[in-house]
Amino acid sequence: MRLAPTVLSIALSTVLLLTSPTTAVKHDNFKTCDQSGFCKRNRAYADAVNAAESSWSSPYAVDESSINFQDGVLTANVWKALPGDEYVARLPLKISVATDGVARVQIDEERRQKGDVTLRHDSKARKERYNEAGEWALVANDVMKLHKDAKMVKLKGGVRLEYGFSDTQLLVQHKPFKVTLLRAGDPVVVLNGKGFMNVEHWREKKELAEGEEKKEEEDESTWWDETFGGNTDSKPRGPEAVAMDITFPGHGIVYGIPEHASSLSLKETRGGEGNYKDPYRLYNADVFEYEVDSPMTLYGAIPFMQALKKHSTVGVFWLNAAETWIDIVKNRKTGDGAKADTETHWISESGVLDVFLLPGPSANFLHQQYGALTGWTALPAEFSLGYHQCRWNYISSDDVKEVDRMMDKFDIPYDVIWLDIEYTDDKKYFTWDPLTFKDPVGMQNQLDARKRKLVAIIDPHIKNVAGYNISSQMNDKGLAVKDKHGEKSYEGWCWPGSSNWIDCFSPEARKWWKTLFTFKNFPGSTENLHIWNDMNEPSVFNGPETTMPKDNLHHDNWEHRDVHNLNGMTLHNATYEALLERSGPGNERRAFVLTRSFFAGSQRTTAMWTGDNLADWSHLAAAFPMILNQGIAGMPFAGADVGGFFGNPGKELITRWYQSGAFYPFFRAHAHIDAKRREPYLIDEPYRSIIRSAIRLRYSLLPMWYTAFHRASVEGTPIIRPLSMQWPGDEDSFEIDDQFFLGDSGLLVKPVVTEGATDVKMYLGDDEVYYDYLDPEYAVFRGKGWHKMEAPLEKTPILVRGGHMVLRRDRHRRSTGLMKHDPYTLVVALNTEGVAGGVVYIDDGETFDNKKGDYIYRAFTLKTVEGEMKSVNIHTGPNDGAAYAEKTKDLRIEKVIVLGVPDAWLEKKVVSVAVGAETWTAEVSATKGGKGKPNFVVIRDPKLPVSKDWNLRFGETSESHGEL
Ligand code: NOJ
Repeated sequence: MRLAPTVLSIALSTVLLLTSPTTAVKHDNFKTCDQSGFCKRNRAYADAVNAAESSWSSPYAVDESSINFQDGVLTANVWKALPGDEYVARLPLKISVATDGVARVQIDEERRQKGDVTLRHDSKARKERYNEAGEWALVANDVMKLHKDAKMVKLKGGVRLEYGFSDTQLLVQHKPFKVTLLRAGDPVVVLNGKGFMNVEHWREKKELAEGEEKKEEEDESTWWDETFGGNTDSKPRGPEAVAMDITFPGHGIVYGIPEHASSLSLKETRGGEGNYKDPYRLYNADVFEYEVDSPMTLYGAIPFMQALKKHSTVGVFWLNAAETWIDIVKNRKTGDGAKADTETHWISESGVLDVFLLPGPSANFLHQQYGALTGWTALPAEFSLGYHQCRWNYISSDDVKEVDRMMDKFDIPYDVIWLDIEYTDDKKYFTWDPLTFKDPVGMQNQLDARKRKLVAIIDPHIKNVAGYNISSQMNDKGLAVKDKHGEKSYEGWCWPGSSNWIDCFSPEARKWWKTLFTFKNFPGSTENLHIWNDMNEPSVFNGPETTMPKDNLHHDNWEHRDVHNLNGMTLHNATYEALLERSGPGNERRAFVLTRSFFAGSQRTTAMWTGDNLADWSHLAAAFPMILNQGIAGMPFAGADVGGFFGNPGKELITRWYQSGAFYPFFRAHAHIDAKRREPYLIDEPYRSIIRSAIRLRYSLLPMWYTAFHRASVEGTPIIRPLSMQWPGDEDSFEIDDQFFLGDSGLLVKPVVTEGATDVKMYLGDDEVYYDYLDPEYAVFRGKGWHKMEAPLEKTPILVRGGHMVLRRDRHRRSTGLMKHDPYTLVVALNTEGVAGGVVYIDDGETFDNKKGDYIYRAFTLKTVEGEMKSVNIHTGPNDGAAYAEKTKDLRIEKVIVLGVPDAWLEKKVVSVAVGAETWTAEVSATKGGKGKPNFVVIRDPKLPVSKDWNLRFGETSESHGEL
């Protein structure tokens, strides 16, 4: 979101927004590849290589005599030569191979590494290539479990490394340098196979003496100072890009590299029908009124890509925090559609070349491999999975209290209400407006009565004004980002007007930032206050491309250029730690932080949302592909502003948006300051009731959401999952991105995202039986292919796949906290073999006692041939969970619905339940199916204890059951 920093232009923009809410992105504010020197150079390089065809040979070669291989690590030198075979740069190479099959290839530049270069403009910037991105993105610098017994076999012209958990090998070709990852003998990832590798070595700018004529050499037009939109980047280190082509042979589909408003399956980027003309760009920026179906950059960046073919998934993680562009081309000569080779070209402005190759071979393995590197999604506080009510702005504590009351009056559950920037005293963070928010604690206490929370915004720009002690402390202590001379705090414009920016790359700055959140230093904050970090790309209204100049200096004199995409993450990490620490050791509660800007690893501490979307059907449709790609890239706690940020949604649009939002992992409604009020109770009937049902549906399914989050927190598995995860053998499903599975629940969801639709086409990728989850008669859908499903306004199309179980809660409450002791309903969807299973994870949802083992983790199974359903403990420690099971012994399943039972079961009017030595009988009511409708039975009040082992036998009474 960007507005010019004068009162007049703010007023003008406001008028514009009110009158034309769907104006388009200002393309002129953001670079195309052609306007970004290093992107243009490297694309031209690729074009030249392609044009030269077989006469081209990449000028990079491994110096064979320098190879050393020990304990899973190969080191060597790579030489870069210019056309006359004259060596110009020595590039230290390190290849590490790990037990899980992951390989890491790192290439530096010796001369810069040694600091043997001269910077222009008397710059104080560091001379080395930036090599600290891993300290932020990776769980630890030595994160790889090196395969110490890996073997190196010498070959003619190269070496082969044999390592990993199965048949993984890495071929390193010496001249030209090329790396191939092989799985079971098949190449799955190739580096520099096309010869686009380019490490722009250091060179001195040669100023022409007076009268001297320039020699005909390389085109230097983009090497030095570069100007865009009136800002000049002094580029004191000259050109220093790194680029590499990465090919996925036979893998014709690629996902990932968020954040873009594009499809799940990434498009080709070299023009042609339906393709983009520009590469996908990763350069975190506040893109005002972003457009959908575009490779333009957005607020966050995760340089992780997944490639797919039938029964195979592989990935690459390009660890670089500088501006990055990625071209994608599918070589269909080698296969069509999903079977093509995907050829990608990664281009970063600076830093070392550092790339991880992840072998899969399945999506599950891949998510584990990537999560082992960058960490798992923090298991969220349970309240944060409920519904969040936000707008810019709730204008006073009375306003907040009124919204809170109205939500109750209209029986609409919600968990969190949000405060945007206007709650502060004149945009000074850590203060409250003295007139409108006189009693923030009283306001939070009212929320607490229904176990609700408050989230308030804290941005990284600190108002530059005399008398604001946070500003003077930060500047006096030298904790702000510096300008290019490295002496003074950088000054720019944001919401408060003139501002300086906290530099969370500095350990001192982080330490200080954390002190600001203590209850003493942030008066009016309570345990129930959580934080929203916005504008942390960082957004600078008068900066180049609405962000900071690249030659600004951060802690340790790293240029902003090197660390730009990490900037947002440094802030939300520090905020998260601050919230944990404010309660004191031993009293930590799970903290909720929302960020707009993110990088690989952000999932460890925060949720994200897709920024300033538009109240428009196209933006509703764009949200799911974006959220799916967030999950692919290991950051599944994601959502989009429900209702659309800019503009005023019509009634149908907002209703459909709530139905979608109820399936965003992060479910929040938000609106621009100029948008009309649109709290759900303000919307007329029948829309209001439909919205209420959508929110209630979310609350009823919270046990499944929480279980999915638990799995994400230990295995990195996405929360909402692309169809390819369920049907890896069905290529036809790989590009579908408007329907998805929710965790392991078997729920297949396709919210309506088109205007006027009354039905949808649901795709099934196998021949399993699927039941219409919201149909009182559970209509059956079966057969691979497309199926029409009715979707009148009040309905979200949802199927449940045979073989799964859904644990849910049917009592309506006002917040998640008030549901804690409620009983459950278990929906059992039998598959074609008459079998179903499911898991559930439950803990207190707020503390870290789960880490000690205080949780319930259970698997339920039903096999009709055995006539028996069971609950089995799958707790994995550290303690045995018995104490927590005892504490939660009153949690009950009060209803079991079994879909698809055989005819003979319709006669079974009772079930017997056994828990330890105790048995009892429960009644069953049966419904016979008809055409397209299954038989189903409902077991009434079987009193199944959730935290204990039990079994349940159909058609038996307690007398016949015996002991468990
Ligand atoms: C930009 C954010 O994207 C938006 O959600 C927020 O309302 C405004 N900043 C004001 O803080």
